[in-house]
Amino acid sequence: MNFSDRISRIKVSSTGAVVARADQLKASGVHVFDFGAGEPDFPTPDNVKRAAAEALAANFTRYTSTGGISDLKRAIVERHRRDFGSNYQPEECVVTVGGKQGIFEAVSALANPGDEVILPVPYWTSFLDIIRYADGQPVLLRTHENEGFALRAAAVERLITPKTRLIMVNSPSNPTGAVVPAEEMEKLLALVERHNLWLLSDECYGRFLYAGARPFSLGASGNRENLVVVGSLSKTYAMTGWRVGFALGASKLISNMVKLQSHSTSNVTSFVQRAAVEALTGPQDSVESMRAEYERRRNRIVAGLNSLPGVHCTMPGGAFYAYPNVSEYLSVGFDVTTLTARLLDEAQVAVVPGPAFGSDEHLRFSYAASLEQIEQGLARFGAFLTQLRPAHAPAYANA
Ligand SMILES: Cc1ncc(COP(=O)(O)O)c(C=O)c1O
Repeated sequence: MNFSDRISRIKVSSTGAVVARADQLKASGVHVFDFGAGEPDFPTPDNVKRAAAEALAANFTRYTSTGGISDLKRAIVERHRRDFGSNYQPEECVVTVGGKQGIFEAVSALANPGDEVILPVPYWTSFLDIIRYADGQPVLLRTHENEGFALRAAAVERLITPKTRLIMVNSPSNPTGAVVPAEEMEKLLALVERHNLWLLSDECYGRFLYAGARPFSLGASGNRENLVVVGSLSKTYAMTGWRVGFALGASKLISNMVKLQSHSTSNVTSFVQRAAVEALTGPQDSVESMRAEYERRRNRIVAGLNSLPGVHCTMPGGAFYAYPNVSEYLSVGFDVTTLTARLLDEAQVAVVPGPAFGSDEHLRFSYAASLEQIEQGLARFGAFLTQLRPAHAPAYANA
């Protein structure tokens, strides 16, 4: 059987594969210390659940307009204005099935076959396959752990060619938690204007920043003609399963994204849209309490990882991921994917291996897990590494 080139060149999301294996173990009664799933461990706030139930009871169950109900588009631009100081209009907004659909639609609407798309590494796993599926040509820009995975506009500029069409940025980043400073973001925006390119800014973790850092969106910049911002309610309001996100951008781009959506999913589930209005317009205290809890967990897990011999982890500025380097435990025939599989099977600790994000020496720990799970998981990870050390970390033997 033959399938299209387009479908053959992408893979199933590898973060999904770890979650599936961990779920299998859990279903067979094994307790898994789960740092795999990239989703909040908190429940969706009650007021949001109630709004969905009320919308169902009121029979709000029909198709809506493809790009979202007006109340929700208004709620999104208003929330974005309050949180980040932007001034988008509802016609510059499309409601999507999670941030993921927004990225998919934006890349599909912008990239022609062979167009180059600059993507910083480590990248969120879906970016690469979304570019490939759209017939784009990913151009990878490696960022470095010893610089905190900092993204620099000057490094991006060096990769621009006549075929470049789009630059994709995700701050705070999945998987590193790195935050691109506002000045560097502004430089990127100036760069895309100068070269007549597009910038996609994925702000799905934009409300989870630590150490007093203030939320920032390029959407608040003066000239945003060449910018598309993607956001999501998934992480901010612990609503991953509800599937609701959005994109903000020039109305011409947005209407092309809506055109694509009109032939695929149509609208986001009607009653979910009502719940999303409540999430965005109702009390916001749950966002701050989740943020504060993630910060406590970040401090604990990063300190714990760095205390393990031969492991080093940069301090993430946002999101809920730690990305330790475990290269001292790797050797020919024992790569990070093998380490991850053994860690799950032998120590019941689930993490995602770095190759899912374009790097060979790291593991991604999602710390959307209780402090207790973090403590126990770290202890098991440490014991697992100790048992590996003689065979796999000769350098450490001399330490
Ligand atoms: C960087 C990044 N962007 C976008 C998404 C998409 O999330 P959703 O489609 O649930 O909004 C995710 C989810 O993990 C993510 O990590």
